[in-house]
Amino acid sequence: MKIIETNSYEELSRIAADLVGAQVILKPDCVLGLATGSTPIGLYDNLIARCKDGTLDFSAVRSVNLDEYCGLDGSNDQSYRYFMDTHLFNHVNIDKENTHVPSGLAADLAAEGEQYDAMIRELGGIDIQVLGIGLDGHIGFNEPDDHFTGPTHEVELDPSTIEANARFFASIDDVPRSAITMGMASIMQARKILLLASGANKKEIMDKALFGPITPQVPASLLQIHPDVTVICCYK
Ligand code: PGA
Repeated sequence: MKIIETNSYEELSRIAADLVGAQVILKPDCVLGLATGSTPIGLYDNLIARCKDGTLDFSAVRSVNLDEYCGLDGSNDQSYRYFMDTHLFNHVNIDKENTHVPSGLAADLAAEGEQYDAMIRELGGIDIQVLGIGLDGHIGFNEPDDHFTGPTHEVELDPSTIEANARFFASIDDVPRSAITMGMASIMQARKILLLASGANKKEIMDKALFGPITPQVPASLLQIHPDVTVICCYK
């Protein structure tokens, strides 16, 4: 595991864009595993700037996102499909047909999960997976539990996650109580992982995740056994 601690969020975002951008240059039809949340926004801003100045070409890139709230369709401004469109896809030359976000509207979420994992396999697997981390150690929406769950699956959100995400909604009551998330298997099967953490409030959970025991109570701790993880963090 390589750990890069930066002095600013801007530096974190620039280095993250260097790594994701290198992947796109080396393999123009790569599969990017993408994340939502406030942390990767600077990374996406850098990727947009590099696409606009001609440094990066997304025309053959495929993408898979980690997760989506249940019950929100892609036109809802709190859905993760909407987030990805507005923060990245609408501003780069990616073909939207090649961008994938699990559907939280599927009548049968178990079947949706199976199809999503099969789709990732058909794409050839994820070349680089971008991850944020929740204050409870979640990655994607894999919440603390007594076991790791491998496949893409439905989850009940942890009260701390609902509280943390309430800032994006009109009220905490509007935050969906469940989501569909890529499981630990799809994440761990990515060839490379890029874990981003920004803010003083992330330091404690990052120390647990990176240096504590590997336990499903801290889902991100499983990354300790992945062979190619880069962590970029800024605790200021
Ligand atoms: P954040 O969320 O980037 O908004 O802190 C991270 C997460 O919950 O995975």
